[in-house]
Amino acid sequence: MSRSVVTLVGVSKAYGRTVALNNVSLDVAEGEFVTLLGPSGSGKTTTLMLIAGFERPTSGEILIRGESVVAQPPEKRDIGMVFQSYALFPHMTVFDNVAFPLRTRRLAGSEVTRRAGQSLEAVRMSGLDGRYPRQLSGGQQQRIALARALVYRPSLLLMDEPLGALDKKLREEMQGELKSLQRELGITTLYVTHDQQEALALSDRIAIVNGGDLVQVGAPLELYERPATDFVAGFLGDVNLVDGVVVEIAGGSGRIRITEGLDVSTPEGPALAVGKRVRLTIRPERLEITATEPAGPNGWRGRVREVAFYGELVRYGVDVAPGVVLKVSRPFRGQETLFVAGQEIWLASRPHDWRLFA
Ligand SMILES: Nc1ncnc2c1ncn2[C@@H]1O[C@H](COP(=O)(O)OP(=O)(O)O)[C@@H](O)[C@H]1O
Ligand SMILES: [Mg+2]
Repeated sequence: MSRSVVTLVGVSKAYGRTVALNNVSLDVAEGEFVTLLGPSGSGKTTTLMLIAGFERPTSGEILIRGESVVAQPPEKRDIGMVFQSYALFPHMTVFDNVAFPLRTRRLAGSEVTRRAGQSLEAVRMSGLDGRYPRQLSGGQQQRIALARALVYRPSLLLMDEPLGALDKKLREEMQGELKSLQRELGITTLYVTHDQQEALALSDRIAIVNGGDLVQVGAPLELYERPATDFVAGFLGDVNLVDGVVVEIAGGSGRIRITEGLDVSTPEGPALAVGKRVRLTIRPERLEITATEPAGPNGWRGRVREVAFYGELVRYGVDVAPGVVLKVSRPFRGQETLFVAGQEIWLASRPHDWRLFA
């Protein structure tokens, strides 16, 4: 087990009657990239502010490399920060922006030049050091903000929706760069986003927060495959969510009735008891859509309600029973003809692709 760089132990933060953070415990190991993912207002920024020292917890402990920092001012904590609003100094050149943290730490001039140069090189902005922020694109400004946060080699980098202001294409490009830079430098990072795809693409581990609670922490694949709650299932990736009643348990599998004539076979689970109401989820890409009757379990008749072509995949909305519409997605490889709205089709699903929640 790697050393922990930052550790939260039962941290809560209230602003008056608003509980922004509720008894959160989390640690980030040396070199790890951990993302706080949650909807707006879930307490993500508050968590970073507490770690950086701009806010004090109402209760709980914050440790950096095993030492309590709650009483320490921000400048003593050895943390770099990057925000969505790049917060560059408009009247300073790129070089002076990046050199600023070194000058406030009173480093020698030659050392300032050397380190600022290295940092600019790391974010591939060496040629632009004489420009002013207004002469740079959003993506370039964000690189400068990153270079400035890294220049004094902090032991922890906090980033609050740093790519939020960029358009989709640039954001995806920057995600790749950010990840390789983070790996190259081995810098321990706590990242904040409300964008689930960004979290999946970047993170070693994701911490899902909702309403101030830490709901689940785990590797992207683990959270995607084994969400602890229906909230996690729905927030990380797309999901179909239906309610049903357990009608039978036999031979290691359960049968759950969604509506008259529509039963799902699922694996048996601790949540199952005949007569119990459960919530079920399945990912759109785990539903098989076919023109002819499938052989396996959970073969349902359906009618295509809508079709949306996304290039690499096709999304269908399928009516399977009155009031029950399921989302189905299917990779598009250029051969097959698409199903059309109004078409009668079949759906199939493997029992173990369904998740049950009490
Ligand atoms: N300085 C503050 N004063 C009062 N309430 C605040 C303050 N900062 C945040 N909050 C409240 O705390 C909750 C969490 O906010 P925040 O951490 O900014 O969420 P997120 O970054 O996940 O969107 C919200 O209800 C927000 O309104
Ligand atoms: Mg925020």
